[in-house]
Amino acid sequence: MGEEIGFLGLGIMGKAMAVNLLRHGFKLTVWNRTLSKCDELVEHGASVGETPAAVVKKCKYTIGMLSDPAAALSVVFDKDGVLEHICTGKGYIDMSTVDADTSSKISEAITSKGGHFLEAPVSGSKKPAEDGQLVILAAGEKALYEQALPAFNVMGKKSFFLGHVGNGARMKLVVNMIMGSMMNAFSEGLELADRSGLNPQTLLDVLDLAAIANPMFKMKGPPMLQNNYTPAFPLKHQQKDMRLALALGDENAISMPVAAAANEAFKKARNLGLGDLDFSAVHQTVKGGEL
Ligand SMILES: NC(=O)c1ccc[n+]([C@@H]2O[C@H](COP(=O)([O-])OP(=O)(O)OC[C@H]3O[C@@H](n4cnc5c(N)ncnc54)[C@H](OP(=O)(O)O)[C@@H]3O)[C@@H](O)[C@H]2O)c1
Repeated sequence: MGEEIGFLGLGIMGKAMAVNLLRHGFKLTVWNRTLSKCDELVEHGASVGETPAAVVKKCKYTIGMLSDPAAALSVVFDKDGVLEHICTGKGYIDMSTVDADTSSKISEAITSKGGHFLEAPVSGSKKPAEDGQLVILAAGEKALYEQALPAFNVMGKKSFFLGHVGNGARMKLVVNMIMGSMMNAFSEGLELADRSGLNPQTLLDVLDLAAIANPMFKMKGPPMLQNNYTPAFPLKHQQKDMRLALALGDENAISMPVAAAANEAFKKARNLGLGDLDFSAVHQTVKGGEL
C-alpha cells in the first residue's frame, strides 16, 4: 500500500503496531537496537534497515516508538541516527511517550534540516496496539499528520490533532498521571478488601457495576488477584510518565499530592525489582510478601 514506512523500536508496543500495519498491507522497513527483534517482523513481510539513518534514507516517513526521552533522543541525534538522512520531503513521527522539551528538541533538529515532524504518543496498551484500537495524540506538522492518517487509522480507533509540538506529549502525560494514580487507589482497595475479610473478587464485581467502572479495573483486576503481572505496560515506563507529569506540574505550579504519592509507590516498586513487570505490580507495594 503506497510508499514504504520506516519503523524504529520494536518493543511491546512497536512490535504490535508494526505487525498490525503489515497485516493491513503497509510496506515497512524496521530497525531495533537489539536487531534480532526484527526477525519476527521479517516473517510478517518487513524489510530491515541496519541503522535508523538507513531506514530514514529509504522511507518517505519514519515512525519511532522508543522507551523514554533518552532513547528517543539517541535514535535521532546519535551516530547513524535519524538526523543523518532526514531532509526536505521526509518526515519523522515520534510515537514514544516523552516530555514536551524532548519532543521540541527533536522537532527543531528535524525541521532545521528541512524535514517534517509530528509527535504522536498513544493511549492504549499491548492489546489495543495489536487490535488497532489505540488513541493517537498527535501534534506538530498538520501536513505530516494528514499524510500519516491512513497508518493512524489502522493503528488507532481515534486520532486527535492537538496543535503545536508539545501538546501531544503533555496530553499523554496527563492521561498517564491519572492512570497511575488510579492504579494505586485500585491496588490499595484490593488489599483493603482482602485484609478486612471481604472477597476481592466480589469487590471487582461491585466496582464493575459502579459509576467508577472502567476497562482498566476490569482487565487488570483478575490477574492482579492471581499475582500475575505479565507486562503489557512496563512499570518502569509508568514511573517515567509519573516523573515527567510531576515535572509538568512543577512547571505550572500545580499541586499534585495524589500523583506524587503514586510516583513514590512506583519508585518503591522499581526498587523492589519490579520495573520490568506490568505497572499493576505496584500492587505488591501494598501487599508486601513474596511474588
Ligand atoms: N506498553 C504500553 O502499554 C504503552 C502504552 C502507551 C505508551 N507506551 C509508551 O511507548 C513507548 C514504548 O513502550 P513499550 O512498552 O513498547 O516499551 P519496551 O517494550 O520497553 O520497548 C522499548 C523500545 O525502546 C528501545 N530502546 C530503549 N532504549 C534505547 C536506546 N537507548 N536506543 C535505542 N532504542 C532503545 C528498545 O530496544 P531494545 O529492544 O534493544 O531494548 C525497545 O525497542 C514508551 O515511551 C512507553 O511509555 C507504552
